[in-house]
Amino acid sequence: MRKFFLNIFFLIILLAIPLESFANQKKLIIAHRGASGYLPEHTLEGAALAFAMGSDFLELDVVMTKDGHLIVMHDLTLNATTNVEEIFPDRSDINGNYFSMEFTLDEVRKLRVNERLKKNGSSQVFQARFPNEYSLFKVPTLEEILKLLIGLKKSHGRIMGLYIEIKGFATHQKYNLNPVDKLLVILDRYDYREASDPIWIQSFDSEVLITMRQKYKTKLRLTQLIGENRWGLSDTDFNYLKTYKGLKEISVYANGIGPWIKQVVSGKNISGDLKFTEIVRRAHELNLKVHPYTFRADKFPSYFDSFDHLLHIFFNELKVDGIFTDFPDQVFKFVEKGKK
Ligand code: G3P
Ligand code: CA
Repeated sequence: MRKFFLNIFFLIILLAIPLESFANQKKLIIAHRGASGYLPEHTLEGAALAFAMGSDFLELDVVMTKDGHLIVMHDLTLNATTNVEEIFPDRSDINGNYFSMEFTLDEVRKLRVNERLKKNGSSQVFQARFPNEYSLFKVPTLEEILKLLIGLKKSHGRIMGLYIEIKGFATHQKYNLNPVDKLLVILDRYDYREASDPIWIQSFDSEVLITMRQKYKTKLRLTQLIGENRWGLSDTDFNYLKTYKGLKEISVYANGIGPWIKQVVSGKNISGDLKFTEIVRRAHELNLKVHPYTFRADKFPSYFDSFDHLLHIFFNELKVDGIFTDFPDQVFKFVEKGKK
């Protein structure tokens, strides 16, 4: 009898804990540009593989075409990941750049996606990844990705969330294009509206996020990506954002931060111990989730012994809330192993 009452007691306690708090504790596996360690980044095929590998979220970057469509593409130019030079040899600017905003969606649909090429176009950035002689893939629109995820939810029963980055807001403005406006309209049409919906929006540009929160009054969860000022991404001052004061400011408009690996573990000290920065502790103190980028099994700082060592430090020691990875299957295996 005593056991029966004890069980009832534990059941009541369990029911009293909001489901959200369980969900919040889950370490998110965010497939960076799809399962990009295995298939070219930002393709429908790479997104489907990321789903099959157990990813919780699909990370994608969006830019706009001349006729106002959001396409899934990391760079503002089409050079590094498509065969645009072959299909449109006369359409580059004087510097050889093919900006997506100079092309209509119909034109973009004529392109094939390849593995990312080095800046001089000589070879693949990641030599051991999908071979470029088999460029079988197309540039997807954001809506095509949304349809894929809805379809997979119906056929498989699980929804993979979206983690969307708006790229190059200032450059779009020069073309009279507004990716923020367009993104929120599309998301609303597909019922992404609430903080509880399976979606995060991210940007390196703090003005983009502040505008989304204050002007557009979005309730969606927002992540402030943190880069380095020397990368020249926007006017955002990352040196300031990394301070406690800066993080506090972020906590007013965003729900999380996305630092890169070296902003969290900066190297080793002379005794050979890893040097942790304060960024995770400070962010957690301010109730901000921490989703660092980018975890690649084929490229990580040399002060980690292995990919699993890197994952162990971030998940088990630093207790980050999720990570962006090109290798969602390896992270999935690591997380599952930890549950045993
Ligand atoms: O969005 C997280 C990470 O993707 C940021 O870097 O250059 O891959 O967009 P990047
Ligand atoms: Ca990104």
